[in-house]
Amino acid sequence: MARLIFALVSLVCMFQTLAAPLQSRAVTSKECSSFNVQASIGIDAARTSLGSINTGNDIGNARNLLEAQLSLLDANNGTTQIADSLLVNAPPAPADANARIVSGLQASLASLSHVVLIVDNSTKAAVAAANASMTTALESAQQAVAANCQTTVN
Ligand SMILES: *[C@@H]1O[C@H](CO)[C@@H](O)[C@H](O)[C@H]1NC(C)=O
Ligand SMILES: *[C@@H]1O[C@H](CO)[C@@H](O)[C@H](O)[C@H]1NC(C)=O
Ligand SMILES: *[C@@H]1O[C@H](CO)[C@@H](O)[C@H](O)[C@H]1NC(C)=O
Repeated sequence: MARLIFALVSLVCMFQTLAAPLQSRAVTSKECSSFNVQASIGIDAARTSLGSINTGNDIGNARNLLEAQLSLLDANNGTTQIADSLLVNAPPAPADANARIVSGLQASLASLSHVVLIVDNSTKAAVAAANASMTTALESAQQAVAANCQTTVN
């Protein structure tokens, strides 16, 4: 029995050794990771807010609302690339990922600033909420750019 257990333990150790080189993933600092989490939370909140608006009911604002959502997707692409790169077996994110989060959020905020809402209704509340979430996300992404945050091979 002892011999069998020893054999099993040896086998497990051998597989762990074999598996070790496959466990490579990109790494980044705790601070940079936190900037990305904060940006990602803000982008998700803004997507949810803007997603609640039925642009089909608002011809005058539809284009700017849709463009704001498309730019948010560009920003989301950057946060996803960074988060994905920190998973096991993933390559580093592109060096400009944080810069693309910043430019996506800036473009989205610019589109939102062209939305004209006079009536205090759910559309106005959703745009204001998205504006606030994106502004917070932008601050985090700008801090990540200032700190030159990168994901690098472990
Ligand atoms: C994210 O951006 C990169 C670089 O611009 C692009 O190659 C990729 O297709 C984008 N991914 C998505 C899901 O949009
Ligand atoms: C977004 O918020 C800023 C202040 O944080 C404000 O100046 C701007 O008017 C707001 N834009 C919209 C579309 O709510
Ligand atoms: C809110 O009011 C604006 C006009 O200021 C209008 O364009 C929009 O469709 C309204 N939203 C809803 C949900 O009625």
